[in-house]
Amino acid sequence: MSERKQFRAIRGTRDILPPDSALWNWFERTAREVFESFNFREIRTPIFEDTSLFARSVGEETDIVSKEMFTFPTGEASMTDVMEVVHENIEFQPIPGASQGKQASLSADEMTAAIKAASLVSLRPEATASVVRAYIERGMHALPGSQKLYYVGPMFRRERPQKGRYRQFYQIGAEVLGPSDAPAIDAEVIEMLLVLFNRVGLTRTTLYVNSIGCKECRPKYVELLRDELRKVRDRLGADSQRRIETNPLRVLDSKLPEEQEIIATLPRISDHLCDACRDHFAKLKDELNLRGIAYQENWRLVRGLDYYTRTTFEVTAEGLGSQNAVCGGGRYDGLVELLGGPPTKGIGFAIGTDRAILSIQESGNLPKLPGLDVFVAWMGTECYPAAVAIARKLRDAGFAVELPPEEMKFKKSLGLADKLGARYALILGEDEVASGTYTLKRLADAEQKKLTEGELPEQLRSG
Ligand code: HAM
Repeated sequence: MSERKQFRAIRGTRDILPPDSALWNWFERTAREVFESFNFREIRTPIFEDTSLFARSVGEETDIVSKEMFTFPTGEASMTDVMEVVHENIEFQPIPGASQGKQASLSADEMTAAIKAASLVSLRPEATASVVRAYIERGMHALPGSQKLYYVGPMFRRERPQKGRYRQFYQIGAEVLGPSDAPAIDAEVIEMLLVLFNRVGLTRTTLYVNSIGCKECRPKYVELLRDELRKVRDRLGADSQRRIETNPLRVLDSKLPEEQEIIATLPRISDHLCDACRDHFAKLKDELNLRGIAYQENWRLVRGLDYYTRTTFEVTAEGLGSQNAVCGGGRYDGLVELLGGPPTKGIGFAIGTDRAILSIQESGNLPKLPGLDVFVAWMGTECYPAAVAIARKLRDAGFAVELPPEEMKFKKSLGLADKLGARYALILGEDEVASGTYTLKRLADAEQKKLTEGELPEQLRSG
């Protein structure tokens, strides 16, 4: 006998089934409504892009690009070609204690050359890079005003799966691209996000804001931080020790308990912002106050993507354990230029839909979503044509209707109506067909009424 494989969803991916899918649709629908009320419009970009687009924008040294992307060759190149490029370019060095045992020691230039030669693409780990690519490619800077765009869809990161962390996860994000970097824009995107969270009942949240400076003041701060970190190097873990050289800001992100005391003594960027950045951050806080938005300043909020300048923010929610960030965002002035476009300012955020939904579910504060309105309990083949006809009419009138495809015994029919959660059973037997009426039974209290076709919609709408 041949062995039969039990197929399972790939690790870190999952199926979203009813009734959860209705909750997801409601959440995404509400986001669209709220975002459109702020005059944002939807952009849909491809699910995979040039690998180097992410390397350039998110940053080669970030966890996302250096170890979490799903990358594959396209066009002429085959996997064998890629392996050849990799072998020609990468020198494998065993790193003691590293989980994979081996790590590539490629310079940024070598990596870019290797990727180019293989025409590699990656499943998008985030969408800001794609939106900026589209903005440049489609000449959107020539359109009037700022471009206010939102997107909804799956992202892919090869992270270690756990509660609230998946390899295919979903984001709802928004980006503003244009000539202005007014702090009012930063405040408005944050306001929009919180209006959405309020509307969906995600209220046990905390908003953290920070400014990480610009290309004038940040490099000086990073050097200062690096100097200070070198002094305490021996007291830090392996990851932080490596980051002192590659990206010292990321050390501030560390969650290791033994590093917290040391981090608390490090210089803070807020004391090293240039005048323009300090002014921008102060105005952002004024704009948030103007909108009655409560926030906490968090000088350690540096975010895990390289493109940020000035404003960064994050929202955490309850009920999520360690993966409690439901939204992250910030300003990325200069990213458009970095990717070959004209001088442009940018800011945006992305909500982790999986986590937002989890938090809503944990709070128990679930919306009442429409379900099955009517179960057509028809009996007798001679009644079947009338059942088909009334099902069509009620569906046209906007009701959700279940029509059993085969005749069922009366009791079984009503039992199924109940199990499916129908509000009403529409009973259709010989008597009803003969008299041209319908018996409508409300399943919650078994109240029964004989009604004409014309009276049905009103009764169904009433409760
Ligand atoms: P991010 O902080 O990497 O930012 O992701 C935003 C949100 O996506 C996180 O706060 C989290 O809720 C969710 N998320 C991230 N990774 C996972 C995962 N593996 N499983 C489940 N949820 C996850 C960005 O992606 C930026 N593009 C945001 C942005 C837009 N900045 C400016 N514009």
